[in-house]
Amino acid sequence: MPKRNVNRVALIGAGSVGSSYAFAMLNQAVAEEFVIIDLNENKAMGDAMDLNHGKVFAPNPTKTWYGTYEDCRDADIVCICAGANQKPGETRLDLVKKNLVIFKSIVDDVMANGFDGIFLVATNPVDVLTYATWKFSGLPKERVIGSGTILDSGRFRYLLGEYFDVSPSSVHASIIGEHGDTELPVWSHATIGGVPVLELIERHDHYTKEDLDEIFVNVRDAAYQIIEKKGATYYGIAMGLTRITKAILYNENSIMTVSAYLNGEYNVDDVYIGVPAVLNRTGIRNVMEINLNEEEQRKLNHSATVLKDILSEQFD
Ligand code: 2OP
Repeated sequence: MPKRNVNRVALIGAGSVGSSYAFAMLNQAVAEEFVIIDLNENKAMGDAMDLNHGKVFAPNPTKTWYGTYEDCRDADIVCICAGANQKPGETRLDLVKKNLVIFKSIVDDVMANGFDGIFLVATNPVDVLTYATWKFSGLPKERVIGSGTILDSGRFRYLLGEYFDVSPSSVHASIIGEHGDTELPVWSHATIGGVPVLELIERHDHYTKEDLDEIFVNVRDAAYQIIEKKGATYYGIAMGLTRITKAILYNENSIMTVSAYLNGEYNVDDVYIGVPAVLNRTGIRNVMEINLNEEEQRKLNHSATVLKDILSEQFD
């Protein structure tokens, strides 16, 4: 791990997600140094200029520049947002082949420059590309993290907050599994102010199980809805990535649903998939094992199988 007394985050890929991440990072002044790397040097240069012009309005100035892979050597975190994104009607898994080729060359270049920090992967299909980053880099599994279902859990908490009329930060609920069509809600442990959501619908006639099911469908399909309307999603994921970055750099030991390598936890192994994990300066300190009910466990197994089938086509 880099041992400098300033922390540095390197972003690879200044598309909509990467640039929004840069914007959120500077606004929240999470890192001391932020370097933007993109094949399109003009885009990286333009973003660095634009962001530096707003620095005076941020809580603290983040040293920001456009750079090269050499800048990754001293980075604590390299966040990869590069790659093709979903077109209307495409699933996240449709992107596998294109993005694996891109990732091989990016991760090789980063490693060739002596990187020894933590990879944070956002590009879809995120669980597959996080696994690929782990394989290509040879870094320990806890130092390769995918954004996983952090955004899905955020969407879930937001929609439950709207439904029960409380702040999303007072909703404790997770989406786990693939960041994609086979993800699942952990209803058995969803609570509001300590009260199980499933109990709330029993107690009050105006809350129904059908509404909860609809909330989950809206979470699962949110990206399709947004892509249909404006072509891409980027602000939500960028804020989620910023939250993960902060948990790592500030050594928070905070728990969030990210794509983590499972090695027997949840009876699943050799796959990166969205589960709650404790994040700190070492990356993923440990995976939290929620006691799932039978249906949730079955759905998680199915989600893991879908991902493992793709991995075995690409990696065996
Ligand atoms: C999202 O869920 C497309 O994965 C992206 O917004």
